[in-house]
This record gives sequence, structure tokens and C-alpha cells, in this order.
Amino acid sequence: RHPGWPAKLGPLRVPAGVLAVRPVRLRDAGEWSRVRLRDREHLEMWEPTGVGPWPDRNAYWSWPSQWMALRGLARRGQCLPFTITVDGRFAGQITVGNVIRASLRSAWIGYWVSSDIVRGGVATGAVALVTDHVFDFGGLHRLEATVRPENTPSLRVLGKAGYRQEGLFERYLDVAGGWRDHFCYAITKEETGNGLVSRLVSKGLAERV
Ligand code: ACO
Repeated sequence: RHPGWPAKLGPLRVPAGVLAVRPVRLRDAGEWSRVRLRDREHLEMWEPTGVGPWPDRNAYWSWPSQWMALRGLARRGQCLPFTITVDGRFAGQITVGNVIRASLRSAWIGYWVSSDIVRGGVATGAVALVTDHVFDFGGLHRLEATVRPENTPSLRVLGKAGYRQEGLFERYLDVAGGWRDHFCYAITKEETGNGLVSRLVSKGLAERV
């Protein structure tokens, strides 16, 4: 068992519905594949370049190996791979990866949300839940999020959640078939006060249920 894993976070009411976060499951296959095959245009330009065609990489039968890889990393304490749900239904993923402990105690965070429920505060709520969790129970001190400068919605999510822009990483990640510049956003535990969720609640952007 590694600190902070497994965990169920929330629920939190946001404009889109009742948001919760829980570990990825093998039985997410059907919804994961259905949403991702439909949402290719919404997702592909922001995601790491994959091997093979989108329909193959996101087919029902490709989830079990991805799930197993994520579960293996989680069991080794290197990753916290969560499914996002809204009103109990699959709504996307949020993952804390590349967990480094010792004197760095840092990781990256990344997320995506189903196109039919975007603009309802889901990603912002999920980032707040997961950030508070890894600082309070996961033994981490810093989280980093890298975002393409063109990704206005994601930049907005990090701003609303309380992350700071630290700089520009040039030609940083192989995304959508090329080496893309990314802004680096980050947050450390000291900056979170009573927690990011509490801050969203006090701003009226979310409600504990
Ligand atoms: N132009 C300007 N603002 C926009 C646009 C747009 N085209 N689209 C959305 N927004 C704003 C929304 O209005 C909202 O801000 P507001 O609350 O001030 O109105 C904000 O962007 C989105 O906030 P949420 O509702 O909390 O986020 P949402 O649940 O919609 O999810 C996400 C955002 C995850 C970026 C979603 O659009 C998505 O899955 N995109 C594709 C994948 C992706 O880009 N993932 C992030 C990669 S970067 C990373 O993981 C660190």
C-alpha cells in the first residue's frame, strides 16, 4: 500500500452535477471507449502522440492493458490513476503520474473530461479534490501541470483551481504528432491554505454534498 492509494474523493456538487473521483476500474472499458471514440476531435490535439490509429488505441479491447499498466504503476506508488464520475456516470480521467518521493516529493497531474459535460466545473473540481488529496494523504509537496498555450479551457481550469504559471517549456512533449511548447503550472502544499476544495466552495464554485 502506498500513501493516498486507493482513494475515493468527493462528492462535490458543481454546475454539471455531482462530481466524484475514484480509482480506474476494468469495467470502465465500455464507457471509456465509447466516449473516447466519439470525442477524438475534442481530445487528440492535447494528448501524447500514440502508437497506432485512434480507433485502435481507444477500442474497448485496448482498455484492459492500459488499466493493468496504470494499476501496476499505482501499486508501485508511482501513479494515482482516477476515473472522474458525474452523477455516478463515467465522465473522464484525472491522473497523478511520475511520482517522485525522497526530497522532491513531486508529480505531474493531467485530466480530460467528456465533451458532453464540459464547461460545468468538472475538471476544476476534480483538480481541487486530487490536489488536496495528494498533499494531505499522498505525501507529496508539489504538483506540476503542463499545458499547451493554445489550450484555453485547461489554462482556465488551472487558474481557477489555484495553480501558478512558472514558465514555458519549449518543444517539451510529443503531443498530437509534434514536439509542442507547454506552459508549466505548479502548486506547492504551502499555497493551498485550507485546501483548494474549500477555496472553490467559498467562491461559490462548488458545494460539498
Ligand atoms: N474559450 C475560452 N474559455 C473556454 C473555452 C473556450 N473555447 N472552452 C471552455 N472554456 C472555459 C470555460 O468557460 C471554463 O471557465 P469558466 O468557469 O471561467 O467559464 C473553463 O474553460 C473550463 O472549466 P471547467 O468547466 O472546470 O473544465 P471542464 O470540465 O470543461 O474541462 C478540460 C476542461 C479538461 C480542459 C476539457 O475541455 C477537456 O477534456 N479538454 C480536452 C483534453 C484536455 O485538454 N485536457 C487537459 C490537458 S492539459 C493537462 O492535463 C494539465
